[in-house]
Amino acid sequence: MKTILVIHGPNLNWLGKRESAIYGRQTLEEINTLLQKFAKTSHLSLLFYQSNHEGDLIDYIQKQAEKSAGIIINPGALTHYSYALRDALGALHIPIVEVHLSNIYSRESFRHTSVTAAVCRGQISGFGKDSYLLGLQILEKLIQQEGKKK
Ligand code: DQA
Repeated sequence: MKTILVIHGPNLNWLGKRESAIYGRQTLEEINTLLQKFAKTSHLSLLFYQSNHEGDLIDYIQKQAEKSAGIIINPGALTHYSYALRDALGALHIPIVEVHLSNIYSRESFRHTSVTAAVCRGQISGFGKDSYLLGLQILEKLIQQEGKKK
């Protein structure tokens, strides 16, 4: 069974109580449970990780990525400025999909830049919890396609 890392960045542990008009009422646990349900129907095993600390996220990626087939990441605000996270992701040879609950392009201008998206296969932004589900679906497809190539 292939392992996928689902990584959530700063403040996403506060989903449900944090700016719910923008991010929705669902908690992080609820989103993870939804993803888990989807993963059961495919043959994927999910590992979840959330941290409010840039370095912790990088340590986790360095430790786990080599044992994994792909990554879904919502880097939170680190999306907009973390070159260190970008470099950690850019060093990997597995497919990565960046997801955002909100449409970062329809919000404040500082959110219009993602320094991490360029080292990901693509980005899904603006569909609430469905951004994660879409991310997982596309990642599954990418992993299958890549498996066939090898
Ligand atoms: C976010 C968007 C970011 O701009 C913000 O800092 C977040 C959440 C999203 O999922 O919409 O923390 O990544």
